[in-house]
Amino acid sequence: MRAQLALLPLLGEALIGIAVAAIHDLNDVVAAAPTVPGAYIVELQDDQDVDSFYGDLAAANVEAEKRLDLSYSLFNGLSLRLKNVSNNDADMAAQKISEMPKVRKVWPVRIRNVPKDEVVWVGDGVEAGLALKRRQESANDTFSPHVMTQVDKLRSNGFTGTGVRIGIVDTGVDYNHPALGNGCFGPGCLFSYGTDLVGDAYNGLNVPVPDPDPYDNCAGHGTHVSGIIAAQVNELGFTGAAPDATLGMYRVFGCAGGSGDDVLIAAFNQAYEDGSDIITSSIGGPSGWTEDPWAVAVQRIVEAGVPCTVSAGNDGSNGLFFASSSANGKGVAAIASVDNTEIPHLLISATFSVDNSSEEVFGWEVGNPPYTNISLPLWAVSNSTEIEDDACSPLPGDTPNLSEYMVLIRQANNCAVYQQAQNVADKGAKNIMLYSNSATTFLVYVSFLPEILGAGMVTAMQGVEWVNLLNQGKEIIVHMTDQNHTSKLVESSPDTQYGGLLSPFSSWGPTWEVDVKPQFASPGGNILSTYPLDLGGYAVLSGTSMACPLTAAIYALISQARGTLDPSTLERVISSTASPKVWAEDTSGRLAPVPQQGGGLIQAFDAAYTTTIPSVASISFNDTANFIPSANFSIQNLSPNDVTYEIGHVAAITAYTFNRDSIYPSFYPNPTDDAFATLEFSESKVVIPAGGSFDITVTPTPPSGLNETLLPVYSGYITINGTNGDSLFIPYLGVVGSMYSAPKMLDPDWTFLSNYTDPLHAAPENTTFAVPFPSNSTSEPDTSIGYPTAVIQLNAGTSLLRCDVVPLDDSANVTTTEVLGVQIVGSALNYPIEYSQRTYYISPFTGMLSDGVAVPEGRYRLLVRILRIFGDPEKEDDYESMTLAPFNIVYA
Ligand SMILES: *[C@@H]1O[C@H](CO)[C@@H](O)[C@H](O)[C@H]1NC(C)=O
Ligand SMILES: *[C@@H]1O[C@H](CO)[C@@H](O)[C@H](O)[C@H]1NC(C)=O
Ligand SMILES: *[C@@H]1O[C@H](CO)[C@@H](O)[C@H](O)[C@H]1NC(C)=O
Ligand SMILES: *[C@@H]1O[C@H](CO)[C@@H](O)[C@H](O)[C@H]1NC(C)=O
Ligand SMILES: *[C@@H]1O[C@H](CO)[C@@H](O)[C@H](O)[C@H]1NC(C)=O
Ligand SMILES: *[C@@H]1O[C@H](CO)[C@@H](O)[C@H](O)[C@H]1NC(C)=O
Ligand SMILES: *[C@@H]1O[C@H](CO)[C@@H](O)[C@H](O)[C@H]1NC(C)=O
Ligand SMILES: *[C@@H]1O[C@H](CO)[C@@H](O)[C@H](O)[C@H]1NC(C)=O
Ligand SMILES: *[C@@H]1O[C@H](CO)[C@@H](O)[C@H](O)[C@H]1NC(C)=O
Repeated sequence: MRAQLALLPLLGEALIGIAVAAIHDLNDVVAAAPTVPGAYIVELQDDQDVDSFYGDLAAANVEAEKRLDLSYSLFNGLSLRLKNVSNNDADMAAQKISEMPKVRKVWPVRIRNVPKDEVVWVGDGVEAGLALKRRQESANDTFSPHVMTQVDKLRSNGFTGTGVRIGIVDTGVDYNHPALGNGCFGPGCLFSYGTDLVGDAYNGLNVPVPDPDPYDNCAGHGTHVSGIIAAQVNELGFTGAAPDATLGMYRVFGCAGGSGDDVLIAAFNQAYEDGSDIITSSIGGPSGWTEDPWAVAVQRIVEAGVPCTVSAGNDGSNGLFFASSSANGKGVAAIASVDNTEIPHLLISATFSVDNSSEEVFGWEVGNPPYTNISLPLWAVSNSTEIEDDACSPLPGDTPNLSEYMVLIRQANNCAVYQQAQNVADKGAKNIMLYSNSATTFLVYVSFLPEILGAGMVTAMQGVEWVNLLNQGKEIIVHMTDQNHTSKLVESSPDTQYGGLLSPFSSWGPTWEVDVKPQFASPGGNILSTYPLDLGGYAVLSGTSMACPLTAAIYALISQARGTLDPSTLERVISSTASPKVWAEDTSGRLAPVPQQGGGLIQAFDAAYTTTIPSVASISFNDTANFIPSANFSIQNLSPNDVTYEIGHVAAITAYTFNRDSIYPSFYPNPTDDAFATLEFSESKVVIPAGGSFDITVTPTPPSGLNETLLPVYSGYITINGTNGDSLFIPYLGVVGSMYSAPKMLDPDWTFLSNYTDPLHAAPENTTFAVPFPSNSTSEPDTSIGYPTAVIQLNAGTSLLRCDVVPLDDSANVTTTEVLGVQIVGSALNYPIEYSQRTYYISPFTGMLSDGVAVPEGRYRLLVRILRIFGDPEKEDDYESMTLAPFNIVYA
């Protein structure tokens, strides 16, 4: 029913006029429905029975079909889909249900999508029956995401997740994968529990068809996530971070499409009731409101003692205030992403020998044309590994005939590949090998020339190694075989741009109510893990989806080391021992904002062994209007010795929500400012006796000289350095300015009345719209009909968005009610909307009100009102409002 309320977050950019032309297919975008038509989550009072509630519905003449039974110890309710009702009745029926005495709250079922993680590559080795291998293997854990987070150190102390039950809510898993159970599912297996809540055909809109088997060979996401947690030793030489954990998979996606909040609430509660010690989910949708039903459900599980990790989201490009549900729930650990320090490439393997010594393996990427089976000595055009114009000019006269060589050329920026190839071909070359000139990019394109019989490319590292050997006078012979009959190998090159720093795609907090989000970060960019066998067996993906499961595994290892699963303790030790990272977008060396990284990159070993425990994981000083003038926290010294602590402060960069010249929030990277807060502490140095604790008061002075209108978010870290070597950071943030009075949250340029057939242009005042008489049909409004349409651009989230219909024709025979000081005939169908993200809506007004009544023909205007952040829904003045152009509606 809400399908016609287009949620088009990505087009926010288009709507401020940068790329309006890009909205060439509006229908496509409109189809991205945020809710399941006619479906609602109904939470009952605690003592009410779900089964008997259907009887109550029948008695109240509400026909509904059961979607899911949500009667759990932490959430008592159900989800239903209204039956034999039109689109239009649904809102009325929902209203009726919410007024029933047994009902606590009714929510529409929002749809969350499978995260759009970047697929860097997917292996095809297994499919082709070819072995994959990694070039260097080591007895130690050298997998870079593990080294970055100290998982390697914790692992070498013997912690592997033994006995910890991790529930995963995702797309299912291919447990036939040799690294994920080799066909074993059930008690005693790596995946020992879980279920499929939806079935293959589920797409988010249709009715879920559960079965007990969470197997997935079509979506892939959950198999990648699972391998990050607990992949067993495999041909690529990596393992998951907690390979001895016991896993449960709760499948909430079919092969395509999204998943409803009711399914997600069911999955989390079932994972909880099945005895999961930790629950993790790399799923989300933009929100920023802790009141979302799924966020509320997860919050309750955390409060019941089970830590929940949820990916922060991949909407980093949208800048500040873009927290995602359910990661934005209170107590839920929202996980940001840093990029891997190494980029794993999937290459074809070949061998080379140096001075007739034994063969060594190297990886290469096929060019055009591909090599045949050949063994040739390597000859480098230049002995320099830094040459910018290798083979860009004709080669000197004394160049030997190159026909019996594999000719090594450094990739050039100064000339095209075909020119390099031509110059060596002029000297007889038939086989050429380029090596990359960049550690981060690895091109695969090689130009085609008739003289060239074979071409390929190796990494910068490989090229440099060879040139250095040749310079020492060694003879190198490369042995190439037809790539279709050769195994693949994974070779990594260092990421010198974002490696170890925050991934630009990682979503930013805080929430609209200034809660600190995200909590901390772990490696999510360029992560190698398992993939369903049918989809290639292994893959490198990028997203907070990859950072989140690693964090869940780290929770398992730390809980083993510390002997506790208490969510608050684990959040506090992980947050305070994490390593804050510098801002990747300039070279100032200043720390990245807390709303981007939370505590920073997780350091698992330090978190497992710290004996200094702060009483808070993070602090929000709120905005200026609700400023918290001082906060208290305590430091506990669990060590057997007295420790002297120095309390200090290090600032992070301040980021503006808005650009100076735009009223739409800035996209990443946000404008920054050097001004930072100062913090005063009740003590700057304390001695805390063994086993004791000490209370500290922190008094912040927000930065001055900032432009409040642009809503700057300042942040930083309280530092606690102990003589025992402990060095802790408590992240804090605050907003200068007022969330309540932030200007133009309802965008004056992009909130207007338009014609549904051309919704991005304002309709002239007094337009007469001739539309069909609205029917109680379940179909969405026809986009070919010129309905009067409300275009509403929100520059901030709102907990209540109203679109009311105001009569202008005194003679019209309508009854009105006063709502917030204005006489209205009712709300437009589908309004009001609760807990909206920052987005825009294109809502055709068909003549139908939210109570199913059609307005009589006549003259009206639409009144759009959004409740200001921290506003009181009962107070007229707490809304920002816009009156759209008057129009006439007549029924054809
Ligand atoms: C493994 O790590 C230990 C401790 O860091 C080191 O001494 C040892 O040499 C490493 N072993 C290998 C095979 O790299
Ligand atoms: C590289 O070539 C240049 C010019 O031919 C020569 O002067 C230099 O010694 C060579 N360097 C090495 C390391 O062979
Ligand atoms: C390798 O496989 C590809 C795709 O299957 C095919 O197009 C190509 O001709 C094969 N090359 C050789 C040398 O067999
Ligand atoms: C900020 O203040 C508002 C208004 O009092 C409150 O609702 C909100 O929870 C506060 N946020 C935090 C993080 O304390
Ligand atoms: C504590 O140590 C951190 C680095 O570990 C440093 O940035 C900070 O300034 C130190 N704080 C004090 C009060 O010495
Ligand atoms: C603050 O920013 C707004 C919006 O760009 C601008 O109109 C105003 O002049 C700025 N104020 C100051 C003091 O720079
Ligand atoms: C729209 O109609 C009203 C009332 O008839 C009139 O006062 C107003 O001038 C009209 N606006 C335009 C732009 O024609
Ligand atoms: C709405 O737009 C369509 C197509 O652009 C046009 O045919 C129709 O007349 C318009 N309706 C009104 C009321 O202007
Ligand atoms: C839609 O159906 C309801 C009853 O189910 C009725 O009250 C309402 O008038 C109908 N609306 C229209 C426009 O037909």
